[in-house]
Amino acid sequence: MSKVYVFDHPLIQHKLTYIRDKNTGTKEFRELVDEVATLMAFEITRDMPVEDIEIETPVTKATTKVLSGKKLAIVPILRAGIGMVDGVLKLIPAAKVGHVGLYRDPETLKPVEYYVKLPADVEEREFIVVDPMLATGGSAVEAINSLKTRGAKNIKFMCLIAAPEGVEAIQQSHPDVDIYIAALDERLNDHGYIIPGLGDAGDRLFGTK
Ligand code: URA
Repeated sequence: MSKVYVFDHPLIQHKLTYIRDKNTGTKEFRELVDEVATLMAFEITRDMPVEDIEIETPVTKATTKVLSGKKLAIVPILRAGIGMVDGVLKLIPAAKVGHVGLYRDPETLKPVEYYVKLPADVEEREFIVVDPMLATGGSAVEAINSLKTRGAKNIKFMCLIAAPEGVEAIQQSHPDVDIYIAALDERLNDHGYIIPGLGDAGDRLFGTK
């Protein structure tokens, strides 16, 4: 069963409040999402493997730690996921970036893949799929399917706000994928919006309607 980690760090919670506020404009919204993505990247990389190396400080020889060269990729779900990429790259600048695009079929209402581009060595890479909102979970489940179909074996899912329905959907379909969130909200409304949520993340990031 996937584990769910809620990052309740005070800085993340503080910034999330202003992200949720409807009076926060596009520029500030984008900056805050970027900052929270960086803070979440700090937490999500806590289990990254390290190895010993020998160095010399100005006063002595020492054995100290460096990251042991794990291959990472960030995969935003288009389009709102793009808002979290730069924030993660600030802490993990060597990570590759893939993309998954999905549209909702007007008849089945199910997400359908229209674009997937991933870095090489899919099987050896650790993937962090990012999307600000985990609502019904339909897109997240399908995006993870897209990665697994192409050979990905090690996947994490990271979002700002999740609804319980979305968390359950990932846990049902992808019990091997852990979920990292800044807040677990109450529920979805009849239009599929998370309550209290933040509205439409894509529109608020890009200033569209
Ligand atoms: N997508 C959003 O952007 N907002 C929601 O509340 C749900 C899905």
